[in-house]
Amino acid sequence: MKPVEIKKDIFWVGCVDYDHRDFHGYSRSPEGTTYNAYLIKDEKNVLIDTVSVGMGGTLLCRLAKTLPPEKVDYIICNHMELDHQGALAQIVERVKPEKIFVSQTGLKSMAGYFAGKDWPVVAVKSGDSISIGKRTIVFQETRMLHWPDSMVSYIPEDRLLISNDIFGQNIASSARFADEFGDDAEMEKRIKEYFYNIVLPYSPIVLKALPIVESLDIDMIAPDHGLIFRGEKAVRGIIERYRVMAEQKPQQRALVMYDTMWHSTEHMAYAVVSGLEENGVPTRLMSVKQNHHSAIMTELADCGAVVAGCPTHNNGILPHMAAQLAYMKGLRPLNRVGGAFGSYGWSGEAPKQLQEALAGMQMEMPAEPVRCNWAPDKETFRACHELGKAVAECLKKKCQG
Ligand code: FEO
Repeated sequence: MKPVEIKKDIFWVGCVDYDHRDFHGYSRSPEGTTYNAYLIKDEKNVLIDTVSVGMGGTLLCRLAKTLPPEKVDYIICNHMELDHQGALAQIVERVKPEKIFVSQTGLKSMAGYFAGKDWPVVAVKSGDSISIGKRTIVFQETRMLHWPDSMVSYIPEDRLLISNDIFGQNIASSARFADEFGDDAEMEKRIKEYFYNIVLPYSPIVLKALPIVESLDIDMIAPDHGLIFRGEKAVRGIIERYRVMAEQKPQQRALVMYDTMWHSTEHMAYAVVSGLEENGVPTRLMSVKQNHHSAIMTELADCGAVVAGCPTHNNGILPHMAAQLAYMKGLRPLNRVGGAFGSYGWSGEAPKQLQEALAGMQMEMPAEPVRCNWAPDKETFRACHELGKAVAECLKKKCQG
């Protein structure tokens, strides 16, 4: 339970939540997460963010190993979501801070979550700064990254950016720094998973914010979840990773996602995969029933095409597929090619509905949906293969620009 000194007199005092599986109620965190909070010891002692509800005691114990909690002068809430401020009331009660800093928009969420509290809340805006002794803390609002009230805190004297949720990952580990994690592939996957399930809808805002981050002199980025990036190379690396993910340039890889009742649509899916693969597009096939919706979104990070298949049920699509499409639509993927297929017994509406759903996400749809009555025959498999080929050709053209 020791704090971890990340820079001289700056400590990680957060919590590791090894059992958390349902991040924010919608995304998967298969191996837990962390709620990072940071203590800066200076003439004014500052706590940046707290932790989730039920974990305030752990934060206080960790913090107390380096500073009596009562000596915290300021608390900064970089945004008010409850995985970081769920313990705020408990911490405020103990610390009795002189000031609590939030963004201008944070005033509203603070009032909403902590109505009636007579706390010394101060609103700050981009460019505002506070002097805490040897250091300055400069605030930069990052509205809608990913909450309206989000901001980041920059400490120029330490070349440190405390980046709020941005650049986070859902990782529960003894490691505090990315370079201690020891599994680059897993780290890469967690970065993608986090971005594609939390940050993706705000890609255009990310692209506007990155030059601001790059204009700062930084050799450490400390996010609110997961591991800290230290050293200029690691900082440049995660910024570049974000740029690539936010740009969403087409990639020559496809995702075929499907649901099935009696295996007809599943068999069609394999034929679509063949059509894609045999035309130069590596493909991942994922059942929407067997894979969590956020795992499918993570896969999309590397795929420029999405082909969806589902049988018709009660004149529509099956519930797992409906949920997957609703989730995907909300996350607003850009620059994709799409395709649709499915089997049916009598009415057969599902493929058209899939086609419309993907087109509604601005996907380019190079072929009509493939429908199959009852069980697929040679003709159906040929049509599915052709669908895969049409998507592959369209995607390759898109990738070439
Ligand atoms: Fe990690 Fe937006 O809370």
